[in-house]
Amino acid sequence: MAFFCTWCTYTAADLAGTSRMKYPPNVRIIRVMCSGRVDPQFVVEAFAQGADGVLIGGCHPGDCHYVEGNYKTLRRIALLRRVLRDMGIEDERLRLEWISASEGEKVARVISDMVGAIRRLGRLDLPGRRTSWDAEVLPHDGPTEAPAAAAASDGR
Ligand code: FES
Repeated sequence: MAFFCTWCTYTAADLAGTSRMKYPPNVRIIRVMCSGRVDPQFVVEAFAQGADGVLIGGCHPGDCHYVEGNYKTLRRIALLRRVLRDMGIEDERLRLEWISASEGEKVARVISDMVGAIRRLGRLDLPGRRTSWDAEVLPHDGPTEAPAAAAASDGR
């Protein structure tokens, strides 16, 4: 899954396409107005829906059309990465790249590189992992006693 800012990285992806540059076809590109529009929840949701990796592309620092959207993205992604690590999601599965409109070759290279890295890691299968996490934290046989009985035995 890729989120590309319309002004730079999406335009570069378009350039890569019109220039007939080759990159793996198994990436779904979503156009956003700015990389700063990518809420961390979008990334978590992409993984939760089965994405094996998420790539965010934006304008180079100083070139954001909304002045500081990409700086906000940089800070958010640093924090999000910590959360994802705690969930057992490897750093390589989330990547942030600054790619200007003229860098079609860089889009093709980054996508190819990321797809290769994810293939080496294997499937993430977060939906499957969530099932095992639920099994760890949820009671297996349901409550052992009714809440009213539990309160009575506490002397409440
Ligand atoms: S407009 Fe491209 S990152 Fe903000």
